[in-house]
Amino acid sequence: MKQACGVIFDLDGVLTDTAELHYQSWLRLAEELGISFDRQRNEALRGISRGESLKIVLGERAVKYGADEQAAMAEKKNRHYQELVDRMTQADMLPGALDLLRGLRTAGVRVAVASSSRNAKRVVDHLNIRDLLDAVIDGTDTERSKPDPTLFLMAAAAIDVPPRRCIVVEDAESGVDAGLAAGMTVVGLGPRSRVGRAHRVCESLTELTAARLVQMIDRGRTPP
Ligand code: G6P
Ligand code: MG
Repeated sequence: MKQACGVIFDLDGVLTDTAELHYQSWLRLAEELGISFDRQRNEALRGISRGESLKIVLGERAVKYGADEQAAMAEKKNRHYQELVDRMTQADMLPGALDLLRGLRTAGVRVAVASSSRNAKRVVDHLNIRDLLDAVIDGTDTERSKPDPTLFLMAAAAIDVPPRRCIVVEDAESGVDAGLAAGMTVVGLGPRSRVGRAHRVCESLTELTAARLVQMIDRGRTPP
């Protein structure tokens, strides 16, 4: 019998461009605090947890604020973010994402989302892709965020596929490292400067098909 295989997608910046929505909400918070913030600085937040991101946004000012104040700021940013998420629809999927999910379903590949975000389930519901996923593991399921491999290992367990038969698709450096630490094959989405440690690097999901991903798992990984 053919062995099962799994594809585990990161969500933000892979299936949908929530990176832009995170940016808009950090920018709004920064403006409220009178702090400068721009897209270039936002790049450093890709795949970074909410609390750590706040520290980066605050920069040297972080020491001025106590833990409670920082928690309130992170909560405020999250309200800004959720306002934007609640306007999302399936049209906000990144190019190739929906076709790939459908192709994987047809090919009988088990599919999961593994995201550090505590909003991932909300985003998945707005994208209306629940029926194309076998599991959604997010920041509400574990405190450990990437580069720790826990999210990916939990996703592999949820879809009942051994890590060596799973492919991770990631856009963040911390996510690529988490996938490698989980013992999975990793496809990096984006520039080599960011995801170059992955086994394969792609510009867009349109370059991937279910057949190609299954072939990667069956043949073993291509060296980076
Ligand atoms: C993902 C995104 C990060 C975000 C983190 C936490 O990793 O790439 O930009 O900060 O999730 O998201 P959350 O929705 O819980 O604030
Ligand atoms: Mg991401």
